[in-house]
Amino acid sequence: MLFRSILLVVKDPQQYTFNADAIAVEARTGAVRKLIDYRKSVPTQYSPKKVPGNVWYIPRVRYRMPEYEDHPSQKPEALLDRIIAASSNEGDLILDPFSGVFTTCAVAKRLGRKSIGIEVDHSYYEVGLRRLGLTQPADSNYSHPLQKAYERRNSRDSAPSLFSVTEDAT
Ligand SMILES: C[S@@+](CC[C@H](N)C(=O)[O-])C[C@H]1O[C@@H](n2cnc3c(N)ncnc32)[C@H](O)[C@@H]1O
Repeated sequence: MLFRSILLVVKDPQQYTFNADAIAVEARTGAVRKLIDYRKSVPTQYSPKKVPGNVWYIPRVRYRMPEYEDHPSQKPEALLDRIIAASSNEGDLILDPFSGVFTTCAVAKRLGRKSIGIEVDHSYYEVGLRRLGLTQPADSNYSHPLQKAYERRNSRDSAPSLFSVTEDAT
């Protein structure tokens, strides 16, 4: 099991985006047992939905999952889904300055957000282009979906320099 800390940092604590309804999950307590919440001014049944708590259980990306790319710390799309849906609105601009294989940008695009991704490793950058539908399959090795085999490719020989992708969802 992997643990990662996520910080929610806002510029103005009085005014920031938090779309609770967009990330609501099933409530497993009072609602399941159809209990009445007597703390409310008009007692009503517990809501079957709730905002996720402080600890999120999201499976790490495994080799056999369709979203898997050859990156040592690829984040699950489900994680970015929740973060982006909660903290931005359609048409907003998302920045990921350490993009890896551009999971953030791919999810941002799917959710109708614009994004800017920056990645130092050229091969990861090319995977990002593919995930964002910005390259043709013939462009490079990384433009093809990953060919999965039981043996993993662990060596890459790219020279580091700065590359960035700007993706506009419109
Ligand atoms: C933790 S990974 C990001 C994984 C990403 N969230 C994903 O799902 O693929 C961090 C990435 O930052 C890149 N990186 C490290 N230093 C960088 C820099 N100075 N500028 C741009 N990218 C950098 C690394 O190459 C690595 O791919």
